[in-house]
Amino acid sequence: MNFKKDFVAAAEDRKPPPFSRRKTALRHGIHPGRVLRFVVTQRFYFMSTTTKPSSTATKKDTRLVDSLNLVLADSYQLMALTHLAHWNVEGDSFFQLHTAFQKQYEELFEAVDDIAERVRALDAYAIGGLSTLARTAGMEEFKSPMPQKDYVAALIVAHEKVADDATRTRDLAGELNDLQTQDLMIGRLQSHEKVVWMLKSFLK
Ligand SMILES: [Fe+2]
Repeated sequence: MNFKKDFVAAAEDRKPPPFSRRKTALRHGIHPGRVLRFVVTQRFYFMSTTTKPSSTATKKDTRLVDSLNLVLADSYQLMALTHLAHWNVEGDSFFQLHTAFQKQYEELFEAVDDIAERVRALDAYAIGGLSTLARTAGMEEFKSPMPQKDYVAALIVAHEKVADDATRTRDLAGELNDLQTQDLMIGRLQSHEKVVWMLKSFLK
């Protein structure tokens, strides 16, 4: 008697048939399609758990859109104050100031649209509504009426506040390598610096 041969033959008899998901499924009374779905789901689960970026990378960085929304609020508030100055300014420079203020608020009207649309392009939402904008900007409103030079002085302060926030936004955009936002802020800063120069020149 060849025990070794008999042992191998017996082992061959006990060996399961070649692996087949279809046959295995049918043997257990499961529709083969369900097995395939399970396998696919498991593979996707594996991929989703192994290729998932770290939690810090998935956390959305809102600093830039928050900063842009602040510049948006500032600019809107400045536009409203410039409009107020345009309406109520009086004195011997009325025509010059009335016209200059109009040009300034018209330019700001276009700027707020560009800033808000940049926020949208960054897949975030622009803030709006007068009370929200005023609260966010936190810019001091001036009393009106007042002497013509006081409008000019108050608007210089407001322009400088916007420019400070635009500078921070420009720098943050540079840090994050968002050159489009950086370019937008550089454009806004050029505009505010030019207006501040003109307003300061009027006061001399
Ligand atoms: Fe007007």
